[in-house]
Amino acid sequence: MTDKQTLTIRDNRSGEEYEVEITDGSIRAADLGKIGKSDDDPGLSVYDPGFTNTASTRSAVTYIDGEKGILEYRGYPIEQLAESSTYLEVAYLLIHGELPTKEQHDQWVHEITFHTFVHENLKSQLQGFRYDAHPMGMLLSSVGALSTFYPEANKIKDPQVRHDQIVRMIAKMPTLGAWAFRHAQGKPYVYPDNDLSYTENFLSMLFRMSEPKYDPDPRLAKALEVLFILHADHEQNASTNAVRSVGSSQVDPYSAVTAGIAALYGPLHGGANEAVLKMLKRIKTKDNVPAFIEGVKNGEERLMGFGHRVYKNYDPRATIIKKACDDVFEVTGVNPLLEVAQELEKIALEDEYFVKRKLYPNVDFYSGLIYEALQFPPEMFTVLFAIPRTSGWLAQWLELVDDPEQKIARPKQIYTGARQLDFVPSSERWK
Ligand SMILES: CC(C)(COP(=O)(O)OP(=O)(O)OC[C@H]1O[C@@H](n2cnc3c(N)ncnc32)[C@H](O)[C@@H]1OP(=O)(O)O)[C@@H](O)C(=O)NCCC(=O)NCCS
Repeated sequence: MTDKQTLTIRDNRSGEEYEVEITDGSIRAADLGKIGKSDDDPGLSVYDPGFTNTASTRSAVTYIDGEKGILEYRGYPIEQLAESSTYLEVAYLLIHGELPTKEQHDQWVHEITFHTFVHENLKSQLQGFRYDAHPMGMLLSSVGALSTFYPEANKIKDPQVRHDQIVRMIAKMPTLGAWAFRHAQGKPYVYPDNDLSYTENFLSMLFRMSEPKYDPDPRLAKALEVLFILHADHEQNASTNAVRSVGSSQVDPYSAVTAGIAALYGPLHGGANEAVLKMLKRIKTKDNVPAFIEGVKNGEERLMGFGHRVYKNYDPRATIIKKACDDVFEVTGVNPLLEVAQELEKIALEDEYFVKRKLYPNVDFYSGLIYEALQFPPEMFTVLFAIPRTSGWLAQWLELVDDPEQKIARPKQIYTGARQLDFVPSSERWK
């Protein structure tokens, strides 16, 4: 062992040796580009589809240790934030890098509360969607449309302009999400109530009918608060990478966040809790669990809500959500599928197949049960993810635009197609 933080690479094609610096457990891909570089060779590159072992940025927003099951925002453990903070305080922490003072907090909450309304023309745009439009399609197009209402948003180097758009986006997201929900039900859109907290107001916009003032159940508002905190950021996942990649072209933040919403819409990212719910409905009763587990072990089934690319331990968010289930079910009555989920978890955690592969419940295992108990249709689940993730996307976007090392995202390719073919005009090809 030496203290030397370098890697020596021998290129067996030429016999040449290269010494490459190691910083934070990484080497720079650009250093590999020097290997074998000549007039007709661009040098070595890294082939890494899906970025499974490539760091795209240095970041101080979120820390994850998947082996140990640790998740921290700006250094604060997720368990403590979920227990004692609010979503807006966590959003402040993510965006600004530190917890707010009382004055900063009150100002932040005030600003966000008073930007919850959206332009009436945006309401007309939403009303133009078909009755069965997917709420995620509605959300992503309306967030994209916001950039047309605030054309100054493209001045991304101006701190005040950036701040204004961040406040607007965090404030308006619940309004747009709730209106997409109401649209599917053919119910009138409910305007924000700025007397209520962030999650209370969201519940009001979702569920208020003819009552002059909606009175949200504090236990449900608190459960949503916890779910929002848990979903606020998760470092360089697919949607955050989309925000950063699109943002690297220096487009306005509404357009960059729209890319994140689009990435989240995909079933491999935001759709797993819906798959869990479908699975639980299919299993139906506790008695059917052992047979289902056998099916998983035989490779005929997959235990949805189990396993994670990063967490090889209990996903810390799953523990917290499990607790939130109890609070929600106290109000809504127990979702009968909870029993099936608990039995699945119990058997799987003791079974050698799952233990050996380090398969534990992830964030999606219990969240679908809560959302269903709150009467959300499955299409809304991803909207409930996108609303809180907005603060994480924006924190990551801010970091990107201030990072002097970042350039426009432009990966390399390994070209595998034909070369230098002679074009034959259609008049000759189609004879
Ligand atoms: C999340 C997920 C895609 C991670 O996949 P990954 O890191 O690529 O892990 P792998 O697919 O390589 O799985 C490793 C092993 O565990 C098994 N495995 C992984 N997740 C499993 C699951 N949910 N049920 C049954 N077996 C599973 C794989 O079959 C593989 O077994 P093998 O070694 O015998 O081939 C995967 O665990 C999964 O599909 N989970 C269910 C969907 C889900 O809950 N997604 C939400 C994530 S937040």
